Amino acid sequence: MKIEKDKSLKEMTTFKIGGRAQFFCAVQSENDLEEAVKFAKENNLQFFVLGGGSNILISDKGFEGLVIKMEMKGIEFQENGAEEKVIVKAGEDWDNFVEEVVKRGLYGLENLSLIPGTVGAAPVQNIGAYGSEVKDSIESVRVFDTEKMEFRDFRNFECKFEYRNSIFKIKNNLFIIVSVAFVLKQNGQVNIDYKDLQEFFLLKNNFKPSLTEVREAVISIRTVKLPDVRKIGTAGSFFKNAIIGHSQAHDLKVRYSGLPIYPVNDSDDNENVKVSLAWILDHVCGYRGASKGNVGTYKNQALVLVNNGNATAEEIKQFAHEIKRVVKEKTAIDIEEEVQYVGEIS
Ligand code: EPU
Repeated sequence: MKIEKDKSLKEMTTFKIGGRAQFFCAVQSENDLEEAVKFAKENNLQFFVLGGGSNILISDKGFEGLVIKMEMKGIEFQENGAEEKVIVKAGEDWDNFVEEVVKRGLYGLENLSLIPGTVGAAPVQNIGAYGSEVKDSIESVRVFDTEKMEFRDFRNFECKFEYRNSIFKIKNNLFIIVSVAFVLKQNGQVNIDYKDLQEFFLLKNNFKPSLTEVREAVISIRTVKLPDVRKIGTAGSFFKNAIIGHSQAHDLKVRYSGLPIYPVNDSDDNENVKVSLAWILDHVCGYRGASKGNVGTYKNQALVLVNNGNATAEEIKQFAHEIKRVVKEKTAIDIEEEVQYVGEIS
């Protein structure tokens, strides 16, 4: 395994922003990964694990330390009655994997079609879309424990999955995901309860869509609403939807009757609800399609920040802070970034 110096990171992110890594290596096996972490420890370097680069904003000053690019590949299918266990290495592209399982007639991940990034990144923030979350299809996650310097498996309940959160995000860098074991159904049922999907199939008079049709619908909805990361610099939803108490949500609903309110997709949380931040940014703060210098919000989805040209990480962060301040002023809600900042951004 080769360790490179002074490697540009910009093109490895979907925002197309970021400086250089002091040290850089691409890992293709568990051995490589162990070696990379050893190198960082021996040289007293911080390290950062890079997947598809689709949920991060890297400083223009780059990253002081070692960037470890996850490139482990492989998908293994193990049939087991009505279910199929699929073990996937962390470096596989998420949507290629979803495409493959849908082709094989396996249910569970179709609503998560076209989400950018790698398989290893999916459990970190428990990716979710159109009424599905990845936690519901995960059996276990294999990680490298960088403190104990050993590999271990986390069963689903040990991953502490929540809305856009998990133990892997809370204990950032302690565990590096190397593979994920999914359990998918052979004769499952599609879930088209989410408003956008319902409307899509109603328009087509299709009341019993197939697995493939659901994947195609999600792709077509996302393509209209979200920018194509191959053409526009972006990291998708920049903020998380807001989780707030019932009474605060009720007060907001009185003032803004159109505000969409959803249950928190977490069985332990009956105290709170999830409100649509995209709607607030659009209808309360007037941010949809707004722009400031090289930074803006996407024309069809206000939650998505875009790099309109040569935006710097600083500009994006400042714009994000402005949005946070305006939302706080207008709704008293403290919103949080979903995108992770890497390196020093002032
Ligand atoms: N809306 C607006 N203005 C906008 C965009 C949306 O008023 O500019 C309204 C919509 O009409 C709808 C509501 O806001 O009533 C919710 O919008 P949408 O269904 O597009 O989804 P979202 O809540 O903004 C979340 C996830 C997405 C995921 C979609 C679909 C977060 C932060 N975002 O967005 O995930 O694809 O639901 O399930 O949870 C991502 O995580 O990067 C991501 C894109």
